[in-house]
Amino acid sequence: MTKKILRKVLEEVLGTEVGRHQYASFDLIGDIAVLRLPGELEYLGLLLGEALLKANRRISTVLLQKGGVSGTFRLRNLQWILGEKRTETIHKEHGCLFKVDLAKAYFSPRLQHERLRIAHLIKPLENLVNLFSGVGCFSIIAAKHSLLRSAFSIDLNPDAVKLMEENIRLNKVEGRVIPILGDAKDVVEHSLVGIADRVLMPLPELVYEYLDTAIKALKPSGGFLHLYDFVHASRDEDPIKKVMEQASSRLQSLKVKYRILFGRIVRSVGPNWYQVALDVRIMPLDEG
Ligand SMILES: C[S@@+](CC[C@H](N)C(=O)[O-])C[C@H]1O[C@@H](n2cnc3c(N)ncnc32)[C@H](O)[C@@H]1O
Repeated sequence: MTKKILRKVLEEVLGTEVGRHQYASFDLIGDIAVLRLPGELEYLGLLLGEALLKANRRISTVLLQKGGVSGTFRLRNLQWILGEKRTETIHKEHGCLFKVDLAKAYFSPRLQHERLRIAHLIKPLENLVNLFSGVGCFSIIAAKHSLLRSAFSIDLNPDAVKLMEENIRLNKVEGRVIPILGDAKDVVEHSLVGIADRVLMPLPELVYEYLDTAIKALKPSGGFLHLYDFVHASRDEDPIKKVMEQASSRLQSLKVKYRILFGRIVRSVGPNWYQVALDVRIMPLDEG
């Protein structure tokens, strides 16, 4: 409903014909609306923000996101537009509460389906290693919706790990979700070799560079990898197939035996540009 408001305002200001073809969207994170507009329409931020505030009583703050996420910590470039001047809020997802600070640590509500999908794959007493945990959403939802034993949850951003620690307490999963500050490669090499039934890699930019680390974290009996990648695909190309080919060639170069079990488009991130998830089974060394 609130999405329609943005279109209505664009059509009112720019005229129906022009307005209809313009792109405007927002994420609702807790009580913060994060507005996204093409650069040439950013001057309409205040007007669109006012319309959002009026249309949805849950919204207390409107921020404008300029460009995509960037840097090692995958942060948004945010500009305050309206309402309470803050970037912190509490977001609810799948019965869990997440304290987030959008200026300090990555968070996207657009991964919510994927987070529950992974939780439902986990079998009792599994150990999960999450190489790029952010504020802990995948790990905490997994702990709440499965009988996993431990979710070792690594992130390089100290603010993300601080928020993850608070989120672990908020959701009462202390002792099952274990927050670890550091580079995923160093942490695995130092203390998590051979312990995981399942490894999560929710950072497309490092997925292939850290593939050997993910495999090292798995038990000698093998296990599952969940990979995320971005891919460009034209109309006649299949994004899932493209990522499967890319992952296969990397896995072959690491000389592991594997089976790709499943692939799905998580979301579209731009014109002909997709985020794809792959579930891969890594076999024990003596099995094909
Ligand atoms: C896309 S976000 C993770 C999203 C998170 N899984 C979620 O559901 O919100 C990627 C995270 O990886 C972290 N990161 C980047 N490089 C890293 C590294 N070398 N080791 C561990 N974490 C890293 C970033 O700080 C960021 O929080």
